[in-house]
Amino acid sequence: MSMLELHDVTAGFGAVTVLHGVTMTVEPGEIAGVFGLNGAGKSVTLKTVAGLVPARSGQIVFDGVDVTRLDAETRVEMGLGHVPQGRQVFANLTVEENLRLGAYTLRRKQRSRYAAALDGVYDRFPVLRERRAQRAGTMSGGQQASLSVARALINEPRLVLVDEPSAGLSPKLQGDLRDILRVVKDSGVTMVLVEQNVAFGLSLVDSAHLLQTGTVVHSAPVGELDEETLATHLGIGRVLAGATGSALTARKAR
Ligand SMILES: Nc1ncnc2c1ncn2[C@@H]1O[C@H](COP(=O)(O)OP(=O)(O)OP(=O)(O)O)[C@@H](O)[C@H]1O
Ligand SMILES: [Mg+2]
Repeated sequence: MSMLELHDVTAGFGAVTVLHGVTMTVEPGEIAGVFGLNGAGKSVTLKTVAGLVPARSGQIVFDGVDVTRLDAETRVEMGLGHVPQGRQVFANLTVEENLRLGAYTLRRKQRSRYAAALDGVYDRFPVLRERRAQRAGTMSGGQQASLSVARALINEPRLVLVDEPSAGLSPKLQGDLRDILRVVKDSGVTMVLVEQNVAFGLSLVDSAHLLQTGTVVHSAPVGELDEETLATHLGIGRVLAGATGSALTARKAR
């Protein structure tokens, strides 16, 4: 059974339709990449899966369950995590308060598990344990990126939707983030990764879905992707295509 299926999902705001029928499948244990230009509908796709934007038609199936009409909180309880674009940490709250808020469904449903879940997150992100009393807004970009991922993981999701985690990070911090996301994947969590930075995304994903104006125009395992397809659908110029191409070659060699 697939971990996530989107069948012809449409969504929009008022008179504007943003998703014109998104269809894609994510297999258990994989990292599925969603790539596309600014405004293509990547974030809206993730929000629709998370239940933050309602699907107007179509179907979203999470681990065999039709969640299309379920609210966001229920989806979190079922094991769906979301790391929003821009990280959205609460700047004036401490690291631990941010994690506590992230775990609200866990605390409500299984209070006894919270301490262990918090410990588990701190084991995975030692920097957050060290800085648990620091206000999140005073942390570095890389530390805030870790916090935003940790906040989703504390509910022990089976599937996590990660929206542009590498944005604004230096190459060194992008490397650290890549290691973190690999550890998350290796722990058995399935991931949907949206990245504007296609080279970064390709270093992680097992499959790629190319989104153009609210429609998936191409889906393939990373081994079957080629530079030309990427360039065509992502409108990447020759220079960028070079970087993307070497990232693709490197990824296939792993
Ligand atoms: N709350 C909203 N109200 C109205 N329009 C919205 C809203 N959220 C998104 N949109 C529109 O939906 C379209 C897709 O937005 P989305 O945020 O999914 O793009 P994206 O692919 O994530 O782009 P980026 O790479 O810039 O993050 C855009 O035209 C955007 O203006
Ligand atoms: Mg976006």
